[in-house]
Amino acid sequence: MSNAKWTQLWLEYHKVEDITKPFAIVIDGFKKENRIIKSLICELKTGLEKMTGAKCTEEEKTTDGAYVVNIRKKEDLAKEGYRISKNGLSINIDSSDESGALYGVFEFLRTIALKKFDENFEKKCVPDNPLRMMDHWDNMDGSIERGYSGNSFFFVNNEIIVDDRTRDYARFLASVGINGVVINNVNVKQCASLMITDRYFDKLKELSDVFADYGISMYMSLNFASPIEIGNMDNCDPLNEDVIAWWKKKCKEVFEALPNLGGFLVKADSEGRPGPFTYGRTQADGANMLADIVKDYGKIIIWRCFVYNCTQDWRDTKTDRARAGYDHFKGQDGQYHDNVILQIKNGPMDFQIREPVSPLLGGLKETNQMLEVQIAQEYTGHQIDLCYLIPMFKEVLEFKTYCQKENDTVADVISGKAFGNKNCGIAAVINTGNDLNWTGNDLAAANFYGFGRLAFDMSLSSEEIAREWTMLTFCADEKTTDVIVDMLLRSREIYEKYTCPLGIGWMVTPQTHYGPSIDGYEYSRWGTYHRADHLGLGVDRSSSGTGYAMQYYKENADMYNDPSTCPEELLLFFHHIPYTWKLKDGRTLIQYIYDTHFEGEEEAEEIAANWKKLEGKVPEGTFNTVSHRFEMQIYNAKEWRDQVNSYFYRKSGIPDEKNRPIY
Ligand code: GCU
Repeated sequence: MSNAKWTQLWLEYHKVEDITKPFAIVIDGFKKENRIIKSLICELKTGLEKMTGAKCTEEEKTTDGAYVVNIRKKEDLAKEGYRISKNGLSINIDSSDESGALYGVFEFLRTIALKKFDENFEKKCVPDNPLRMMDHWDNMDGSIERGYSGNSFFFVNNEIIVDDRTRDYARFLASVGINGVVINNVNVKQCASLMITDRYFDKLKELSDVFADYGISMYMSLNFASPIEIGNMDNCDPLNEDVIAWWKKKCKEVFEALPNLGGFLVKADSEGRPGPFTYGRTQADGANMLADIVKDYGKIIIWRCFVYNCTQDWRDTKTDRARAGYDHFKGQDGQYHDNVILQIKNGPMDFQIREPVSPLLGGLKETNQMLEVQIAQEYTGHQIDLCYLIPMFKEVLEFKTYCQKENDTVADVISGKAFGNKNCGIAAVINTGNDLNWTGNDLAAANFYGFGRLAFDMSLSSEEIAREWTMLTFCADEKTTDVIVDMLLRSREIYEKYTCPLGIGWMVTPQTHYGPSIDGYEYSRWGTYHRADHLGLGVDRSSSGTGYAMQYYKENADMYNDPSTCPEELLLFFHHIPYTWKLKDGRTLIQYIYDTHFEGEEEAEEIAANWKKLEGKVPEGTFNTVSHRFEMQIYNAKEWRDQVNSYFYRKSGIPDEKNRPIY
């Protein structure tokens, strides 16, 4: 085991048979000693030599008889964008900056790996989102909050690790266009506050340099109470002058030591985290105080909108956690400074398999905003169960917020197209760890790859991404590729069917968030998330309920407010519905619950059986790991099916029309 090396994921660079000529790299207009250009040359050599077996050299000018890859600086291209063209033996990768050139190189290598290196191709691409980030929830002790792939590869026993693996990780990120990474958990524990002390500066500098080599800015999560935790002060009131002075001094130290740091991410006033509310201040007071200080260094503050009171008592039917984000942040729209970005989870609750899009996205019109999604499969199967999440992210991005007449989708808002913001984009809570295959389940790497590709180019379809990833990773025959793509594309719906359909969410074991616990409720013995009684289930979030539906612009508010127009897949999120309610296809709600749970389990068995047929077609290690995970998934699916069906049968007293075993 100790000698085993981690995998290269989609950068395996399998052999491509039909290219045999050597390659020469010519750098034209960029400085060869630039750190990103150096990485780019290295990537080109590695990729081309592995795929073609032919030599790849650096030349000052065009060489006869070889393919020539010209990396050219061209000012007509937008930031981080690239243009690739091919004419005979000459390939031009143009960009106005080094990062764009690096992305162009990875795209070129991908083109070859996908066997699209035909006579003339042309591709121009500018990233859709200015910020494309991965957020780690890695703790300094090496554990990962919501990690399902081993431990952290950044931290071991409160030390920072920088090694070959770190470099490979940076390569993966850059290869899919990621340009920012937050290295530590948003829940900044006490020892992690020390990260902004000189105890760690040398190592952090080394780490940030590895990322900088690949055009990636490193960020750190910050503890808002640092003045108390490490500054010996008795408060962290954002309007207190001594506190402000402390932060000024601290930021000077930090940014002098870590010039590549992009800024800080803050989780405040949520789930036990400290924040401005303690001092009667607003979230804007907190964010702006830090932003004003880091502005002098050209840095940003990313402030999470996951602010809610987790001890709220749900027996009061007007109290609704879903409302919290909007209630806390909408009122200060326009007050946040230019270098603050509000980071908003895709749904108003917490990364469930299906939630409506947060009404804050587009609800805020004068504030920089960023979408936060989660590829760590916290509520979506712990990287045991297969759940390809790109279709979910596509739905979120394509959602019409109605924030204005045109350019009103979430994609328009976060990319800056809607309101002209420059500081905006998308972030994912990442699913990696120190497992040799990086993501626990080999197939979960499709989410890692897919998130990056989608963040860069939101027009890519879920299928295109799944196919690319499968081909790059396995380089298998067409039939095998089709089977894997099909499994990925069906997986989210299958998971939803055997767990918590129709937007009801949760019903999951509290704390661990894997496996069913129908009445499981996180923060108290009272309340349930589903609010089922003997007549029906679901949460009334309409105007006569918690009023959450009214946080949307009129078109969406009206749609969600009325159970007859509410999209069925979210029916129970917005309404308390009788078991006898007829769904659009004529089935009753209770029958739908029974049917989907049986179907979901059967379909999980079906895709597992399809995987079994791939023995010998994919690497043995992958085959075995994934097969084992499918066994666990089927067990899990059965548990969910049986517990959910029994629970609602007992609650409603209505039997299954098809007489299947429900106890
Ligand atoms: C979820 C998750 C927590 C995490 C939180 C967050 O609630 O269970 O572990 O801290 O999200 O987004 O901050």
